[in-house]
Amino acid sequence: MPPTASAIGDARTGWQYPPPMGDGDGDVVTGSLEPTGRFSTAGLSRWWHAAARSDELARAPLGRVVFDVPVVLFRDASGAAAALVDRCPHRNVPLSVGRCVHGQIECGYHGWRFDGAGRCCAVPGLAERGDPDRGARRVAALPVVESDGMVWVAVGAGGPATAEPPRLVGVGEPGYRTVGLTLDVPGPMLAAVENALDVPHTSFLHRGPFRGRAERVPVGVTVRHRGDAIEAVFEGEPVPPGLIGRLLSPDGGVVEHTDRFVAPALAQVEYRLGSRHIALNACYTPVDDRSCRLIAIAAYRLPIPESVARSALLPLARVILGQDNRMLRLQQQTVERFGGERFVHTPIDVLGPHITRLVRRLERGEATSGALPADEQVTLLT
Ligand code: FES
Ligand SMILES: [Fe+2]
Repeated sequence: MPPTASAIGDARTGWQYPPPMGDGDGDVVTGSLEPTGRFSTAGLSRWWHAAARSDELARAPLGRVVFDVPVVLFRDASGAAAALVDRCPHRNVPLSVGRCVHGQIECGYHGWRFDGAGRCCAVPGLAERGDPDRGARRVAALPVVESDGMVWVAVGAGGPATAEPPRLVGVGEPGYRTVGLTLDVPGPMLAAVENALDVPHTSFLHRGPFRGRAERVPVGVTVRHRGDAIEAVFEGEPVPPGLIGRLLSPDGGVVEHTDRFVAPALAQVEYRLGSRHIALNACYTPVDDRSCRLIAIAAYRLPIPESVARSALLPLARVILGQDNRMLRLQQQTVERFGGERFVHTPIDVLGPHITRLVRRLERGEATSGALPADEQVTLLT
């Protein structure tokens, strides 16, 4: 049995925000340490999730795991992205350790070849003539689509849940350049997405490289619900004091800042000042219940050379994401030690509770259209 809250004085905490959801997703504050939440998002496996960036899919096959399903990605003979279950039907070697030959994937053990639809195209050494393809020799092909510089897959049975994957901001638009980044994240998708869209921790954990001004200033936030998306629009936010702020405006000013969650697992952060615009598109694809993979593309429109933007943005991102990963690893270790989540929210935990609630609704198959919650106003010191 976990210790009771009164043993460590937790019962003094009477604050409840937002109101309890009543479905065990981590919003309820009581005097107990019993876990109230669960971190699995397995109910979203039928949705489109980013498996790789398009530029990662070159000549070699790419092995990824999405919702515990091993997937091998490669380009077929037409150049289209293909996704197969990463298991050779012959002796169960991962196909991702093989190689690509003329748009087919060749197993590294005995050289069986498969096309983008999973059909067996060659069995080296087999004297029998004719088409080598047989039902049992085939590999399951997964729904795959390529858009906005990402390769998306839907691994859950009966998928995909939506016709199109979510759209990224700025990617492929005139005047924008992009830089990509892929990183393993030692926490579940919901924790990682909340972290990406959580402003209060940036002034504290990332003090120095990102935020952390000497005197905090009040910023008004409007939370808007948009079907399978939810966004927070920050008003009156001065240019943040770190490197990103200097790239946006060396002379200061007030930025337009929007944080957005788009189902099933996309976090978007946009900073805009005049014609200058930085848009981070961060896909947090579940690897399993406990971890995910960040596959990100930052699109930017800045009047500086590409080399400067890259040499500034990527190292900064790695520092910040390293700090985040350390906290996410510790968070998940603690959650598991206590047998589940038990979170306390305040109004400045702006998007996290809403995202959890939206994801749980989507997992239950509840429609996101129709009456949406009214906009909400929050003030935080940043
Ligand atoms: S295990 Fe793949 S060809 Fe034999
Ligand atoms: Fe962070």
